[in-house]
Amino acid sequence: MSGASWQRFESAGKMLDNDETMSSSSLSSYRCPLIHEAVSAIIRQRSTNPQDIREVALDGLDLSSAQRILDLGCGFGFMAEVLAERVDPEATIVGVDAWASNEGLFVKKVTDAGREADFVCTKVDSRLPWPDGQFDVVVCCYALYFFVDVLPEIARVLSPNGVFVTITHTEGSVAGQLPAAGFAEAAEALLKLTRRFSAENGLQLLSSHFGEIEQIDYSNSLRFRPEDADDLFAYLRFKLPLLTPGSEPDDALPDHLTRFVHTALSHLGEVVVEKDDAVFQCRKPLWR
Ligand SMILES: C[S@@+](CC[C@H](N)C(=O)[O-])C[C@H]1O[C@@H](n2cnc3c(N)ncnc32)[C@H](O)[C@@H]1O
Repeated sequence: MSGASWQRFESAGKMLDNDETMSSSSLSSYRCPLIHEAVSAIIRQRSTNPQDIREVALDGLDLSSAQRILDLGCGFGFMAEVLAERVDPEATIVGVDAWASNEGLFVKKVTDAGREADFVCTKVDSRLPWPDGQFDVVVCCYALYFFVDVLPEIARVLSPNGVFVTITHTEGSVAGQLPAAGFAEAAEALLKLTRRFSAENGLQLLSSHFGEIEQIDYSNSLRFRPEDADDLFAYLRFKLPLLTPGSEPDDALPDHLTRFVHTALSHLGEVVVEKDDAVFQCRKPLWR
């Protein structure tokens, strides 16, 4: 493929330059919980790391007496589904997300496990509407970079003996092959977003708010072979709003991107997407 043939998409990527556009653009991917859930299943299926990131995130934690749980940026209930199995039978999991469309699936995941669910549709910024020490457990998976200013508030609403668990991406893996595919500007914008809370700077950002932090690195990549092309295209369509602002996750892919994928699959025999993450388990909130 020629450099010129990718120019159109590089220009589209420029629209992602400011943070506001980046956030609202990327948020449109999460409006359709069923598509998000299907893509999440593809990610697990194509992962080279056999461990489920949620099990890694909750590893070693005894949550059996946790009753009040908060899941910030909960989406369709990816983490709540696993969490619900581990907490007190009387527990309530409060899910917070900017998209009201996530409520049905989130509530179902929690109630299927026999726990109470409460869904709050709001756009989190720097304040949380709960009293001090309200929650035994707070989780925030792949979302803290959207609203990192809320970190002091997470420490405030966590009970003194509670635990905060968060998962994020590495800066090193987040842009992946985007520049090679002609999305250099989009890659830059994605990196800028991730740098607000990443595997690389997470420990430092958390250390002002928690007295005890354990970082668990999760090395992973997604491997798509020619026979997995449908999965790869579904994954890329979900990512499309990150690449071309205004697109929807179920839109058709731009022809040039489709050609890039076909070329990569036929020439290299596979497409590998680096997807290294880190988990932080945090205790001893320092706000008092
Ligand atoms: C990458 S998804 C992660 C969802 C879920 N935690 C998971 O692990 O699958 C990010 C989620 O954060 C939500 N989100 C982004 N910015 C938000 C904000 N300011 N307030 C509330 N939710 C937000 C999105 O709607 C989306 O559901």
